[in-house]
Amino acid sequence: MSGAISDPIDFATRERVRFYRELDEFLRIPSVSAKSEHDADTGRAADWVRERLVRAGLDAEVIATPGHPVVVGEWRGAGPRAPTVLIYGHYDVQPVEPLELWDTPPFEPNIRDGRIYARGSADDKGQLFLHIKALEAHLATRGRLPVNVVVLAEGEEEVGSPNLVPFVREHRDRLAADTVVISDSAMFAPGIPSLLFSLRGLAYFEIHATGPASDLHSGAYGGAVVNPANALARIIGELHDETGRITIPGFYDDVRTPPQDTLDGIRGLPFDADGYAREVGTIPAGGEHAYSPLERLWIRPSCDVNGMWSGYTGEGAKTVLPAHATAKVSFRLVPDQSPDRVKVLLEEHLARMAPPGVKIKVVELHGGRPWLAQPEGPLFAAAANALERSFGARPVLTGEGGSIPIVVELEEILGANSLLLGFALPGANMHAPNEWFATDCFEKGIDTLIHLYDELAQP
Ligand code: BES
Ligand code: ZN
Repeated sequence: MSGAISDPIDFATRERVRFYRELDEFLRIPSVSAKSEHDADTGRAADWVRERLVRAGLDAEVIATPGHPVVVGEWRGAGPRAPTVLIYGHYDVQPVEPLELWDTPPFEPNIRDGRIYARGSADDKGQLFLHIKALEAHLATRGRLPVNVVVLAEGEEEVGSPNLVPFVREHRDRLAADTVVISDSAMFAPGIPSLLFSLRGLAYFEIHATGPASDLHSGAYGGAVVNPANALARIIGELHDETGRITIPGFYDDVRTPPQDTLDGIRGLPFDADGYAREVGTIPAGGEHAYSPLERLWIRPSCDVNGMWSGYTGEGAKTVLPAHATAKVSFRLVPDQSPDRVKVLLEEHLARMAPPGVKIKVVELHGGRPWLAQPEGPLFAAAANALERSFGARPVLTGEGGSIPIVVELEEILGANSLLLGFALPGANMHAPNEWFATDCFEKGIDTLIHLYDELAQP
């Protein structure tokens, strides 16, 4: 490779093969934040990000926290009058189980049919990598960036970012920015890029039901002693009524109806029911009957059991009346709901629902507040232009049912507004076996971000 290239887009095109090679290296690091056996790997992933930022031309360091480290990169050569952009992403990934359902191993990236298959390819290592390469393309060709940049890459997003809020508070001056840019979400459809106007929040609990002092013979005691598994199953079954509404008294009190133009925008989007059914393998029949699927996903709260266990779950039969039953139950929240308030309401509700002879305890696992943007003005125009320049199509405004808990906190602590533009495609299997990221989105994603930094420099 020779000859100086002066255009960042040309540079990204020429260096593409190397970019794929580097991404492959990054995706091979099994940075599973939830499992302590991978602590050394999350550390290696943080070092890898730092190293790549430095090679791109930024100052960067890995900063320890009580959990997984944070990587901060900085480039401030655009001067005090240019805006500062904070790029947030996460280098941690979800666990890969069940392993046997992967067609190729999760940490051995495999490109087939225009997709990069690997854990973290879409969520979020692949998307964080796009930013690093876009920064590199600017610095390698022009020797500068059009804006000042702070990169904040964390390793605990998938476990609720427990150490990031204190970190951002402590380093608020260093992280100060006008705009937060995040690529950790999906496009509306292939060829249709999107800008997010919302993310749902999250309130995640473990519900413990305890009955007798120890497991009992289910014949000798069953019928007289209350079975905590029966009780918990009934309580969970009654969390929704027959119209799909959540039955916890007061749960909807803080739910705000979005402005009319948001509702109109959602109604104007083509929802491909057949495609959706193909993606998930069943019809979208969950949630509140009174709302459309996109409304139920984006602007209405939800409640799901994420796991439950009790009694005997091994091979064959065992006649046991278990002493304990546990369920992991999470709520996706919309403005103006808060995880703290939902916890109080849930505890009160469960105290009323628990039958005599069963004790219920609620343990909060993690939470995050919902985010809602004012999707207009120069910031959104800049992102829309950048997306249009690389995808050849104006983005649509979409909500997102998933959560990125730090977004609201970053906005509040730093006094900045956020732009969320993601490049995963629907059906990318985030958190599931066979996660993938489209090569087309990988390439256009880098181009988009190259344009975006230029666009954000416009007054
Ligand atoms: N990238 C996702 C959020 C997301 C999911 C965006 C689906 C677009 C589509 C993020 O990494 C994530 O999974 N967040 C967690 C947060 C939780 C662990 C606190 C989530 O939503 O479950
Ligand atoms: Zn995720």
